Amino acid sequence: MAGLIPQTRKIHRYLEGLFAREDDELRQARLRSQKAGLPNIEVPPLVGKTLWLLARMVGASRILEVGTLGGYSTLWLARALPQGGQLTTIELEPAHAAVAQQNFNVSSQGSLIKLVVGNGHQLLPQMVSEGTAPFDFIFLDAEKAGYPAYLDWLIQLSHQGSLIVADNCIRSGKVIEPSESDEPSRALAKFNQLIANHPKLESVVLPSFGGIEGGSLDGLALCRIR
Ligand code: DHB
Ligand code: MG
Repeated sequence: MAGLIPQTRKIHRYLEGLFAREDDELRQARLRSQKAGLPNIEVPPLVGKTLWLLARMVGASRILEVGTLGGYSTLWLARALPQGGQLTTIELEPAHAAVAQQNFNVSSQGSLIKLVVGNGHQLLPQMVSEGTAPFDFIFLDAEKAGYPAYLDWLIQLSHQGSLIVADNCIRSGKVIEPSESDEPSRALAKFNQLIANHPKLESVVLPSFGGIEGGSLDGLALCRIR
């Protein structure tokens, strides 16, 4: 597909160098995840920076993340919090969560992060029924087949003006005509349809650099709650 375009990689390198240089903490978190054998699918630094900036723009003091992996995006987001802010992040895989917790333990923002190990499809309804206070900013980056089902629970955990951001909404264009067997892309195509037409949302999908060295195209959904 759109992958492996040298010019795209060059542009990605240019933008990353200008806007999303990693400091030691972020680099070490990425390397620790890599060494632990986690899949190499964390957000690229430019997306991390985008999440940080969006959370700052909405003045988020309560952030929810679904799909922690090794906690790389979590660390970008936690840096957007003011004093007394809180970030809850949900991870299904205990092995991923263990690496993420190590990354949080050595982070200056670690005390603001609450890592919950479990299945989001159970935890989110539970949070709704417990009357959990709404979140100002939500980042969805969990298993792709679950995106459509997550959406309604995330809306219920939001308030007017909250921002829901979702990763992987373009998938190198596979969302345009997903094949029968490509369940993740089918789910994302459905998700894009849902957010485009949802009465409670104002939405867009912004293209982002994905894959190896930014050589393929992915997308970030931005949804504001009406
Ligand atoms: C995959 C998941 C992601 O969240 C991502 O950003 C890229 C790839 C995956 O499951 O393959
Ligand atoms: Mg992702």
